[in-house]
Amino acid sequence: MDIREKIKNHSAIIGVVGLGYVGLPLAVLQAKTGFHVLGIDEVSAKVEMVNQANNYILDVDDEELRQVVDQKRLEATTDFSVLQQCDIVLICVPTPLTRNKEPDISAIVKVLGHLAQYAHPNMLVVLESTTYPGTTEEVILPALTAKGFTAGQDLFVAFSPERVDPGNADFKTHNTFKLVGGVTEGCQEVSKLFYEQSIVKVFPLSSPRVAEMAKVFENVFRSVNIALVNELTMLCERMDINVYEVIDAAATKNFGFMPFYPGPGVGGHCIPLDPYYLAWKSKEYDVHTRFIELAGEINENMPYFVVNKLQRVLNNLGKCLQGSTIVVLGVTYKADIEDPRESPATKVMELLQKLGANLQYVDPYTPSLMIGDQQYKAHVVTKELLEKGACALILTAHSAFDYQMIVDNAPIVFDTRNGTRQVQQHREKIVLLST
Ligand SMILES: NC(=O)c1ccc[n+]([C@@H]2O[C@H](COP(=O)([O-])OP(=O)(O)OC[C@H]3O[C@@H](n4cnc5c(N)ncnc54)[C@H](O)[C@@H]3O)[C@@H](O)[C@H]2O)c1
Repeated sequence: MDIREKIKNHSAIIGVVGLGYVGLPLAVLQAKTGFHVLGIDEVSAKVEMVNQANNYILDVDDEELRQVVDQKRLEATTDFSVLQQCDIVLICVPTPLTRNKEPDISAIVKVLGHLAQYAHPNMLVVLESTTYPGTTEEVILPALTAKGFTAGQDLFVAFSPERVDPGNADFKTHNTFKLVGGVTEGCQEVSKLFYEQSIVKVFPLSSPRVAEMAKVFENVFRSVNIALVNELTMLCERMDINVYEVIDAAATKNFGFMPFYPGPGVGGHCIPLDPYYLAWKSKEYDVHTRFIELAGEINENMPYFVVNKLQRVLNNLGKCLQGSTIVVLGVTYKADIEDPRESPATKVMELLQKLGANLQYVDPYTPSLMIGDQQYKAHVVTKELLEKGACALILTAHSAFDYQMIVDNAPIVFDTRNGTRQVQQHREKIVLLST
């Protein structure tokens, strides 16, 4: 049966490679749509958890996972030979950076090794991992055509970036608009048809390169704008101007302005990494993406700015950082999610640890945390804990925190996220990034 027919009648078997923040929600969505999904991950613990419907991703609904596993619509394995059975393969593996901030696409290359062995005619292969423009045509395609396939005829290849925003209550995998760039018109048609089965709006693009560039551009846009507001914050701090009031004021303009907010840095698997994929690729074309480097420099400096300011805050109280207890509130890279990857909180804590601070942290999403070679265990936020600390340092403003209680009981609160904005009493105890 032609792949188009299998897609339309949902008899196509979908292989999702990489069952992480992107892959697991996608696998559940495809299973809910009515496809039979085989999830493939190299970590057997994850595979076992999926097969027991033991959810480990906050964006995945426990009950939905239970249903698709019980109905055998979703099965997970570490065995790549199941790729032989798959009509469609969605690659969702990590794309980190090397120590020197160069793209590390080794996970993609590893998957290609398996695909070269198990790909078969009438198959659609889509790369969903974020990467530099050119990856699909320069890395994925040659690995498959080397096996004698012709793209658009007996094999279909496309790039379709995942744009999901973990923890976003309004936009999940199914209603986040999808870009699709096929290698040929046939690849375009088949991949668009596939995503239209489960995603509310699909935008076909002329090539994978456009889709790859658009995805990286979206994250560069965020990185640059966050850096801009972080720089403004450092200036506002010198000038004793409340940067949040400035942002709110600018946001009253009814066109042409979009608010971004400062913080102790950027984190997660996207914003701190993806721009460097483009910066690396651009050098091949003798272009130096200065905005990307500059934004990276400013954002990476923010943890140092926070630590510097904390030292001044304590100094004003006649205390020094060394030996002081700092109660850190929130360590994940953004509010209300469980992902600690690349969190600026980790960097801030690392710097504080080096300066001799005694760290205690609170985070309902992170039971334990490794900083340097020291393992920390999360505390519950209590009056006693806050009173014991020289300062409460808010690095991630989880909505579960009782901010009035924090401000009431801590000697002083350094709030790097403006989580205390609703607090009415004892505002004199709150220090913000810019005041
Ligand atoms: N997390 C996000 O918010 C987000 C959003 C949009 C796009 N992305 C992109 O999606 C991709 C995946 O990110 P993620 O956050 O889901 O990563 P993740 O680390 O949460 O998940 C990746 C999974 O792939 C598995 N894996 C690694 N190498 C493998 C291999 N060779 N074969 C099989 N499985 C392998 C890992 O065990 C893990 O379970 C990245 O390119 C990322 O940039 C992430």
